[in-house]
Amino acid sequence: MDTAPPGQAPFIVDPYPTLARIRANGPVSILHSDEGLPMWVIARYRDVRAALADPRFGQDVRRAQQLADDRVAGTTLGSDMVHMLNSDPPDHTRLRRLIHGFFTAKRVAAMRPMVERTTAMLLDGLDGRDTVDLVTDFAFPLPMLIICELIGFPPEDRLAYREWSTAVLTHSDDAEAFGRAMRDLTDYITGLLRQRRDDPRDDILTVLLAARDQGHLTDDEIVGMVFLLLIGGHETTVNLLGTATLALLRHPDQYRWLREHPAALPVAVDEFLRYESPVSMATLRFTTAPVDVDGVEIPAGELVLVSLGGANRDPDRFPDADRLVLDRADPGHLAFGHGLHRCLGAFLGKLEGEVALGQLLARHPGMTLAGTEDTLRWRNTIMLRGLESLPVALHG
Ligand code: HEM
Repeated sequence: MDTAPPGQAPFIVDPYPTLARIRANGPVSILHSDEGLPMWVIARYRDVRAALADPRFGQDVRRAQQLADDRVAGTTLGSDMVHMLNSDPPDHTRLRRLIHGFFTAKRVAAMRPMVERTTAMLLDGLDGRDTVDLVTDFAFPLPMLIICELIGFPPEDRLAYREWSTAVLTHSDDAEAFGRAMRDLTDYITGLLRQRRDDPRDDILTVLLAARDQGHLTDDEIVGMVFLLLIGGHETTVNLLGTATLALLRHPDQYRWLREHPAALPVAVDEFLRYESPVSMATLRFTTAPVDVDGVEIPAGELVLVSLGGANRDPDRFPDADRLVLDRADPGHLAFGHGLHRCLGAFLGKLEGEVALGQLLARHPGMTLAGTEDTLRWRNTIMLRGLESLPVALHG
């Protein structure tokens, strides 16, 4: 798409032509941030997969910030909160191990009835309405309610959690808003931890409290962990549900096929994840040693962007890569990342996608887009790929 609706940059509306140019340009390209910070970009499937599994790419946020400062003084790479996704081993290993048990295939399979009940409850709430915003009314509350249940957060406070996570993702340059959100969240967590001391439960807060008492975790790391889970647990799945629904509305033949083949939902969800990867760009990496990427050397100490959205549309890996093919049956996409930091919530994200889309299509087989394509608003970030809102007429 060469033209974009007013107020939306063409790359935000449709990043794939640019990503195709970056892939065609060579194994790596160099882009500059608004502040003039040079960053190397890798976007071919084979190179992206190799980079994500290569321990010479570091993620420690403090070292990355130092490298950025050395080049352009005063740049902020975002929040400096420490959590597993911006830590390297051994911290990463310690943090991931603490909560890994909540996200195993077995544990997530046991959560299916809860996910089904929550989905049905949200869809009941849409009964009697003709037009809804599928993002606000369905795609956002579902994963938020699920992750709150796992963490041990009271679900009625979910709007505050969204405010906090938005403050971190979008106001990282607004120190005041960020500081306020951090203080509020820290106070909130401290209060809940106090309650857990007298009343332990089967939730993540109780596990984190025990780990802190045994000296395996600091107070700051508890806040970092909860923040990461809040963000990872909903900012991604909400994008999947929104873009998957839009893809179906744009492809009536595929929409019909999926309604007629509901058993194909798990395979279809993989294709939705490939076609519109909710995390378009993996978190920032840096080279800790020189790395050869398909014949081009990135020197040590360089900041590197790894494009999951670019890799998942690489025609050298996926035939007809720009086409949505719901029965493609190729789970080799990199939408959950790869290697050490591969998504901890991958089983849960897939389950939520299957249950939510399955129930939505069964209840509202005649959905159509309410409004025109050019009123669609995409999230204004190159890191995530998702819709801000998706107005849908439930009964066509
Ligand atoms: C469709 C849904 C989801 C997608 C597409 C997704 C995608 C990703 C990706 C690409 C990464 C790796 C990023 C990188 O290497 O820079 C990641 C990491 C992570 N995700 Fe997800 N995610 C999803 C759902 C979830 C859910 C439901 C949770 C649950 C809380 C979650 C928790 C995490 C955590 C904790 C990490 C960090 C893992 C580590 O550093 O070892 N994600 N996710």
